[in-house]
Formats: sequence, structure tokens, C-alpha cells
Amino acid sequence: MSVRQRTPPHSSQIDEPQVTSNVRVLQISDTHLGAAKRQFLANWAPLADWIARQDADVTIHTGDLTVDGADVDDDMRLCGELLRSLPGTVLAVPGNHDVGEAHHERQPVDATRLDRWRRNIGPDWWLHDVGQWRLIGIDSMLFGSDTDDERRQFEWLQLAHASADGRRIAWFTHRPLFLDAPDEPDTGYWSVKPAHRAPLLDLVRSHDVAIVASGHLHRWHDATFDGCRYVWAPSSGFLVGPENQPDMPGEKWLGAVIYDFDDRSVSVRFGEVPGLATLWIDDVLADVYPHAVRREVPASQQR
Ligand SMILES: [Fe+2]
Ligand SMILES: [Fe+2]
Repeated sequence: MSVRQRTPPHSSQIDEPQVTSNVRVLQISDTHLGAAKRQFLANWAPLADWIARQDADVTIHTGDLTVDGADVDDDMRLCGELLRSLPGTVLAVPGNHDVGEAHHERQPVDATRLDRWRRNIGPDWWLHDVGQWRLIGIDSMLFGSDTDDERRQFEWLQLAHASADGRRIAWFTHRPLFLDAPDEPDTGYWSVKPAHRAPLLDLVRSHDVAIVASGHLHRWHDATFDGCRYVWAPSSGFLVGPENQPDMPGEKWLGAVIYDFDDRSVSVRFGEVPGLATLWIDDVLADVYPHAVRREVPASQQR
């Protein structure tokens, strides 16, 4: 881990130079890359080129790394190789297409799927301290799964906050806690259910959690509630049209997010990635996710 030291301007005029550390973290998300289903693979090269030019200390992928790693070994293997080709420290949390989701009829999150992620990618929850910040990766696919992993993760999460030792905290996870407001009702597929959201919001409010960064929605958004900034990373793979996603906040842009962490503050901005092709899932949904096409209730009505 390299931590760049930046000296304030006119430091020669200061008796004891105040050196602040700055750590650059990139968030990328929802690449949906596959070995057999290669519809979005062409958008990896411009993303990797962009990452290489950012001189970042850490790159975090917030899930849906694979197009169908929840069932396909080759997808997970390919994506493990691609992540390992990136410079610097690379961390990731899984999305629903990587490990399945709680009590899903076809792809429930289970030990086999979690094991495939962990063998090829790494831990699905983790913490990483940089300067005066604690970055915490959370596996949101475990919420509501009623598994030992769900219980173990939450106990670990409480410890990770209790032991922060004055560090500010930034979360990285796949599914956003909410869409419009922390107290909203269930939004179905799109965000964490209220019963599982509540203990997470208790953690946010009782500790110095400054950032909750997520993916899943394929939209860029940055909103602050009760002093915490909720950042939605855009996908670098594809956009979702109105037939397959209800109206919600945020911009339908492809790209990434750039975080510059100083001692006690952080700047957050959209990262424009040159060369990304504007792909829409709607054009290839039947080939990529045929089960989604056969849903009786359209995704646009599932809020
Ligand atoms: Fe996604
Ligand atoms: Fe997702």
C-alpha cells in the first residue's frame, strides 16, 4: 500500500510542516463479465486502461463482477484473473450475479456459491485501513439469508466499528440500503429490505460512518442523509432501460467513482471512463439473463 504524502503549498513558511496523507480509492462496479457470455467484455479494456492512469492506491469492485458467476465457474475464474491484472490493492464484494441472493428460487446464496467467490476472488467481507480511514467491505447478498455467514458477518461488522480507534469509516457493498430515503418501505429487488436495513442504519448512526458506497443500480448518484454520504457507483458494463428498471434517483451514466481521502475528509466525484461503449441490457436480455425475461411481473413494477 502506497500512501502519497502531500505537503501544503507554502510549506516553507510553516515552522512544522503539516503533512497530510492522501489516499486515492477507485470504485468500479457491475462489469458483468463472462467467459461464454461476452456481451460486455469489450468495456473491460477501457476501464482497465483508465484505472492504470489514475495512480490509485486501492480499487474496489462493488459486485456483479461476473455475468453469472453464481452458477458458472469459468466466469469467476476469468474475473479473478482480470482483477489480479489491475495495479495496486484490489478488493471486491459480491453482487447477486456473483453469489446469488437470499432465498432466491433459482440462485440462493449458499456455501457452494460463496466458496467459489472466495477461492477465485477473495473474502466477501473485509476491512482495509488507509491513513485515518477504515474501509469496510460488506457482503449484502447475505442479508436475510439466515445463514451462519450472515450472523458471523454482522458480529464481525460490529467489532469492525467498535475497534475503529478514531478512524472514520467508509462502507463498500453491492445493494444500496435504500433508494429515496432511509425510512422508505420495501423496494423489492432494488435495495436492502427494511428489516435488514434497520440494524445497518443503527451502525451508521452510532459510529463515524461517512460513506456508504454501493453498486447494483447501474446509475451514478450521490446523496447525503443525516451526515452520511450514500454514493451509487455507475456500472462500467451496461445501462438498464425503463422497461427493466423503475424510475429512481440518479443518472444513467457508465463510468466509475474517484475518492480522495485526506485525514478527516473525502472528496467524491464521478469518474468518466473514455472509450466505454454505451450498451443496454434491454437489447440482449434474452441472451444474457433469459430467466429475467420470463418473470411474470416486469422488473419495472417490482418496487
Ligand atoms: Fe448489476
Ligand atoms: Fe446486482
